[in-house]
Amino acid sequence: MKSAVVVLSVLLLCLNSAVSGAASPVLPKGYAAWKKSVRKVVTDKSSLFYGIHYIYADKKAEKGYLAGNRFAEGSRIVVESFSIKGDPAVDGPKNMIVLMQKDKRQRATGGWLFAGFGVDGKPSGLDPVTTCFGCHQKDAAQRDFVISTKKDFK
Ligand code: HEC
Repeated sequence: MKSAVVVLSVLLLCLNSAVSGAASPVLPKGYAAWKKSVRKVVTDKSSLFYGIHYIYADKKAEKGYLAGNRFAEGSRIVVESFSIKGDPAVDGPKNMIVLMQKDKRQRATGGWLFAGFGVDGKPSGLDPVTTCFGCHQKDAAQRDFVISTKKDFK
């Protein structure tokens, strides 16, 4: 049963990318060496980022934050999220990775590619328009859809 579900979701994923014509997004290698945010703890259980997270910005994105959230084409921002297991002062297991990459072709999502990944770095196949863009549009339409700011980086 479980394997049938896996096969089905893989099929659906393939179908999805075939229909949209887009290659599956790839998690950038080496993001761990990018500019890293302060440690952020969210204790609101209704939040997508309930738990602990760190934001990583590549060189272009770093400049974009410094310019007051105006990002050049190609800028990349990654968030690594960890759960809270007991003591919030300790990072629990990693549970999710998300990416925003400035890409002017992504008109439905403000000129950003949004993508979610499992802890293994494989795309989780979430729909960027229905799953991701809503919050970013609501919270940061005036900040190039990027919610965090340079204050989140030391
Ligand atoms: C429930 C609302 C919500 C949804 C849905 C959501 N985000 Fe976010 N996202 C946020 C918030 C709030 C932050 C800021 C976190 C911080 O300040 O530390 C954020 C930050 C980010 C960042 C770091 C850059 C930034 O904007 O601060 C990335 C990358 C990101 N989200 C990607 C995604 C992706 C990909 C999805 C869909 C899989 C998604 N998000 C769905 C609320 C959301």
